[in-house]
Amino acid sequence: MSLIAGNITAGYGKVQILTNVGINVAPGEVHCVFGPNGSGKSTLLKVCAGVLKPWSGALELDGQNLLGFLGHEFIRAGIVTVPQSGGVFSELSVLENLQAGGLALTDKTAVRASIESMLERFPILREKKQARAGSLSGGQRMLLAFARALVSKPKVLLLDEPSAGLAPVVVKEVFGLIRDLRAQGPAILLVEQAVKDALPLADKVTVLAQGEVQFSGFAKDINETELAKAYLGLAKA
Ligand SMILES: Nc1ncnc2c1ncn2[C@@H]1O[C@H](COP(=O)(O)OP(=O)(O)OP(=O)(O)O)[C@@H](O)[C@H]1O
Ligand SMILES: [Mg+2]
Repeated sequence: MSLIAGNITAGYGKVQILTNVGINVAPGEVHCVFGPNGSGKSTLLKVCAGVLKPWSGALELDGQNLLGFLGHEFIRAGIVTVPQSGGVFSELSVLENLQAGGLALTDKTAVRASIESMLERFPILREKKQARAGSLSGGQRMLLAFARALVSKPKVLLLDEPSAGLAPVVVKEVFGLIRDLRAQGPAILLVEQAVKDALPLADKVTVLAQGEVQFSGFAKDINETELAKAYLGLAKA
């Protein structure tokens, strides 16, 4: 199930943020999007998640046109986001957060089974099932955000800076989890500032600056230093 965005131009109100951005994420592949603050990374994810309608361009999942789909239809189609900072509902319990991950789905038996498999996979979430999500540590909240996203067995997983604000040891765990997930086959679009940690995981890389693609290619063809150079160049631009 490849997610293909082509020539996306998008913005907020009258302010244009993205200009002709294209991206192609294939199953079992991690596609990293790097770029300075404010370069449009989260905006691109919002377009891919159906949260922000592009002004023009194309968006397809395995040949199916997604433009015109509503937000919950994106989730039903299999496109799910882990938003920046996880976005768990602090006032809800861990279990209620997991249930929220299945809200858009109609097969409630499958949702219950899927929640159970998440509790099996992440024992800490079972232990804290009834606890308020707001009482969890930063790392546990990110784990919950991943588990909530996985409840619907996504075909495309959109991850917005999952390592941000986490302790280094937790960052390692999060990247380990992404590595495991890739092996299970979803297409993963990973926005990150932690280039050093993310690059070894990446199959493809896109660098954005000021809402435009500056570089797009295979991760094996670039190294961290080159990327940092590109970054520094971009940061000055
Ligand atoms: N809801 C919004 N309304 C208006 N402008 C917005 C909105 N969200 C983002 N922007 C603007 O769009 C631009 C791109 O923001 P975006 O969040 O996509 O960048 P980013 O690359 O994800 O940055 P960061 O690394 O800080 O997360 C910024 O100038 C930002 O101020
Ligand atoms: Mg962002």
